[in-house]
Amino acid sequence: MDEQNEKTLAPEKNFLRRAADLKMMEEIQILKTQLDLAKKDLARFEKTKTLAHVAPSVVHDIRNSLGVISSTSQFVLSILKPDEKERQAWELVQRNVENIKNLLKSYLQLAREVENTKQKCSMNEIVNSVAHFIEIQAKKQNTSIEKNLAENLPLLNLDMPAIESSVLNIAINALESLENQGAIKFRTYSDEKGENLFLEIEDTGPGIAPENLEKIFSPFFTTKKTGTGMGLYSAKAAVENNDGKITCTSKLGEGSKMILEFSVGPS
Ligand SMILES: Nc1ncnc2c1ncn2[C@@H]1O[C@H](COP(=O)(O)OP(=O)(O)OP(=O)(O)O)[C@@H](O)[C@H]1O
Ligand SMILES: [Mg+2]
Repeated sequence: MDEQNEKTLAPEKNFLRRAADLKMMEEIQILKTQLDLAKKDLARFEKTKTLAHVAPSVVHDIRNSLGVISSTSQFVLSILKPDEKERQAWELVQRNVENIKNLLKSYLQLAREVENTKQKCSMNEIVNSVAHFIEIQAKKQNTSIEKNLAENLPLLNLDMPAIESSVLNIAINALESLENQGAIKFRTYSDEKGENLFLEIEDTGPGIAPENLEKIFSPFFTTKKTGTGMGLYSAKAAVENNDGKITCTSKLGEGSKMILEFSVGPS
């Protein structure tokens, strides 16, 4: 190329060089963002791994203490007369100890292989027991509990305590979202062919912001001051351990709906 041509092309070359630099800077920025996200994922994974590691021994210690509470309340119940007022209070202690034991069991399942504890169970029965459990708190905060449960649903082969505590976690979230008044609706149904069974838990709470919707099943994601952010993570793990699926739909200002789906399988 002669000197004259070189001079004419110089501004164009500079422009192309600057454009290439800008493109490279853009790519570096994208890579940096990806690296930051990967670092966050890794930190979250490390936390989960640590939790999985320490959970069994912590749970073991808590279970020992629960054993003491349970045997003490059994002893008190055995010496109380059937019509004594305190009986109800001690029975409540006993029931709650059992509930905590079941919750701990489902947390433990995150850390180790699930033993095969599956049994034929009724989804409606799970709903009834969860609804019963949250009844008192719901009344306190003016929340109605509605149940629309299909009759003659097939039984499912599930780890019942794990699924029950998942449904309980979801129902507690619904209660917490409502604060003062509203409704929680449980609905069970199967698809036309009877191959899949569904449970919906819907609330009339404030809903979940779209940018949070994809995070709610991640470990440690919480928007609550004292939340652990493990409720939905462990619920999802338990549902998936039972070959189910869990999804959530939500609209700000209208409420949220969790949908659990299980395949019915051979009877
Ligand atoms: N029904 C709901 N309505 C509105 N937000 C919800 C609902 N369910 C879950 N969320 C959102 O998802 C987050 C994660 O829920 P998750 O149950 O995993 O943890 P948490 O409730 O914050 O803590 P923890 O269950 O340990 O008390 C909540 O902090 C909340 O922001
Ligand atoms: Mg929760």
